[in-house]
Amino acid sequence: MTVALTSRVRNLGTETAFDVLAKAARLAQQGRDIINLGIGQPDFPTPQHVVEAAIKAARDGAHGYTPANGILPLRQAVARDVKKYREVDIDPDDVVILPGAKPALFFASVMFGEPGAEILYPDPGFPIYASAVAFSGATPVPFTLKEKNGFGFRADDVLSAITPRTRLIIVNSPSNPTGGVADPAELRKLVDGLAKHPNVAILSDEVYARLVFDGEKNHSLIGFPEIRDRLLLLDGWSKTYAMTGWRLGWCHGPKAWIDRMTRLAINVYSCPNAVTQHAAIAALDGPQDAVEHMRQAFERRRDLIVRRVNDTPGLSSVKPGGAFYLFPNVSKTGMRAAALQDALLEQAGVACVAGTSFGAAGEGFLRFSYANSDENIEKALDRVGEFLAKRKG
Ligand SMILES: Cc1ncc(COP(=O)(O)O)c(C=O)c1O
Repeated sequence: MTVALTSRVRNLGTETAFDVLAKAARLAQQGRDIINLGIGQPDFPTPQHVVEAAIKAARDGAHGYTPANGILPLRQAVARDVKKYREVDIDPDDVVILPGAKPALFFASVMFGEPGAEILYPDPGFPIYASAVAFSGATPVPFTLKEKNGFGFRADDVLSAITPRTRLIIVNSPSNPTGGVADPAELRKLVDGLAKHPNVAILSDEVYARLVFDGEKNHSLIGFPEIRDRLLLLDGWSKTYAMTGWRLGWCHGPKAWIDRMTRLAINVYSCPNAVTQHAAIAALDGPQDAVEHMRQAFERRRDLIVRRVNDTPGLSSVKPGGAFYLFPNVSKTGMRAAALQDALLEQAGVACVAGTSFGAAGEGFLRFSYANSDENIEKALDRVGEFLAKRKG
């Protein structure tokens, strides 16, 4: 082939978790018994009343384009949700509904990123941050989330990475891939420190906001009025309502920025799916017991997997405060993260993701998703333990 693609498309990054999934699916197809701790989505169905609302909307004729920023009743429902769970009044016109939370990461990257600019992001972190930033032409600049801090970010690590070229800071709590939750005191310190950097925007990715444990709650950056005029707040339905395949998310921010994001949306996909938007209203306004049921299940499984990992020679883990991921330290196994990921899949039948899929700081770690049954978590850790014992022996 002699036709060349652009270098930024050729070099575009990806989420290697999807590669692990594909490999696990291939092995399962060949008859292998694979336990999947690789997947980043709840193992629960979407609540039935949400499904019914989608069916009703399809029957009632929600078949056409919608406004590019989403239907007003849904944006109003988002405003009610922000009031309920983040205790802040927002204007529904400052919200854009998107097909998943992910497009906002790409849009924000091209809104603030260009050659010569720098964008800060967490390492380990969701891999799309670095790839979208690099695509924009900006330089992705990682700040490290450290195991000794429970993988919560330290404001000083973020603030000290700011240069005159910094245009945007991406923060994510609770975190993928670590499950770490930001300490409210560090959020305060970050906001105070940002007063000296008025030209820097902030994107707070809070897609796991409702999955917080130990009686704690999510501390949202929108709770700080000092930065509200330069904050993009990102959340959605995927993780909270087990709706990853429905593709719906939302972003709130200054109206001028939300209007630009909407214009990007018009250029790419016109509007989010109409039927899904009606289902999303039912999710936000309807009973929340399914959300609480999932949260409690994840908290119980977190306790189980932390105990099992810490009982396994060669592995250790801090106790994450949210999401449904564990990021165990595997450095004592003597294996590189990627080699251990492959060996566990091929030899032990356990799919998980190497920490290095989430940045260089992930070396020495694996990501286990515990969005799986207690029984499978037990079985997976039995297999991991046996694999490591055999290797040693
Ligand atoms: C931190 C983080 N942000 C954003 C997303 C994207 O969410 P969505 O599926 O709604 O696009 C994910 C999905 O895994 C995530 O982990």
